[in-house]
Amino acid sequence: MNFEFTENQSMFRDMVRDFSRQEIAPIAQQMDEEGTMPDALLAKLREGGFFGLSFPEKYGGMGIDTVTYALVIEELSKASAGVSVMITVHNSVGSYPLAMFGGEEVKQAFLPRMAAGEIAAFCVTEPGAGSDAAAIASTARKEGEQYILNGGKIFVTNGSRAAFFVVLARTPGTVGHKDIHAFIVESGTPGLTVAKKEDKMGLRASDTVAIDLEDVAVPAEHLLGKEGDGFKVAMSALDGGRIGIAFQALGIGQACLEESIKYAKVREQFGKPLARQPVIAEKIADMGIELEAARLLGFQAAWLKDQGQPCTKQAAMAKVAATEAAWRAADAAVQIHGGYGYCKEYAVERYYRDVRVTRIYEGTSEIQRLVIARQLLAG
Ligand code: CAA
Repeated sequence: MNFEFTENQSMFRDMVRDFSRQEIAPIAQQMDEEGTMPDALLAKLREGGFFGLSFPEKYGGMGIDTVTYALVIEELSKASAGVSVMITVHNSVGSYPLAMFGGEEVKQAFLPRMAAGEIAAFCVTEPGAGSDAAAIASTARKEGEQYILNGGKIFVTNGSRAAFFVVLARTPGTVGHKDIHAFIVESGTPGLTVAKKEDKMGLRASDTVAIDLEDVAVPAEHLLGKEGDGFKVAMSALDGGRIGIAFQALGIGQACLEESIKYAKVREQFGKPLARQPVIAEKIADMGIELEAARLLGFQAAWLKDQGQPCTKQAAMAKVAATEAAWRAADAAVQIHGGYGYCKEYAVERYYRDVRVTRIYEGTSEIQRLVIARQLLAG
């Protein structure tokens, strides 16, 4: 067993660390306050190849492995989890369904555009179908050489900036997961409109919207996989997506740890720095232990994915371990900062808000435990 990164992996991590420190961290607070992301940053992310991280090189991407991808997402997340969620949703659930299940012509037409920075989004969740993804009600009716989509989606990350949407819809009048189909739909297709933009607690630089679908005509070749494959397309995309969210949480958690260490070394109470007070040192030690343990689980999941082996259980375990460790780290960071940690002047206040959703989206902790338990109990 080897716990060393390759030269290439370390190089990528260092490059992204520098980029994040120079280009993202200085404006992270402002993006949070304004609830948006400047076009200039989007342009730099495009130029840096961040929208084609996981794409095969023949479609214009970088084709990096999942372990490298995890390192990249953690570094971006240390600077801004709002930026990292845009990148990870685009590279995983937004584009993987097309890269894995799309027809060659559609892949050739769309993947290079996605790699160049035309953003992708993933439309599964509906008002009546959150954790129970198979309960979606949006419909896809076949008419000649096209499908007509109707319904609506909510909590669509990247929705207002997206050029491409992965959309799940079912044959009218059916129930269950077997009659669900997945499509790739271009923005600008008549009938697909961005509805409400959510006003969120955290990740404020990233956009989350509702999407309305009204008689949206999609060419038959934009079906991903075969008819009825939609649920499995989404679930397998979520396996990779959950590894990305695990490393997003680890980035936030690591930032909490680093800020806490910095603060504890300079803040004095009872005549000595907090760092030399056992109750505070213990909190810092626990943050370190929990984040490192979760990181190892995350790398195991990433490594399995790179080997082409099933990673559903490990991805779910990594997501639970990382998001819960990061949540506790954010709580401890605010506690260590005391009253200052509750004020926006200190970054830990943002981390505390940003980390919360990682236990909810791309499958709640409760759903991850269901997935893990089913796999353990089936053995
Ligand atoms: N890969 C491939 N296939 C899979 C799979 C996987 N990881 N997981 C399940 N399947 C297959 C099963 O093998 C089964 O196939 P068969 O019909 O051949 O037997 C089929 O899918 C149905 O599986 P289940 O019986 O397990 O389905 P279920 O209805 O009991 O539910 C669930 C499964 C795990 C609860 C699922 O609904 C789930 O993951 N829910 C959470 C949804 C979620 O993560 N939503 C997040 C949306 S994206 C987002 O958060 C916003 C964003 O943009 C960031």
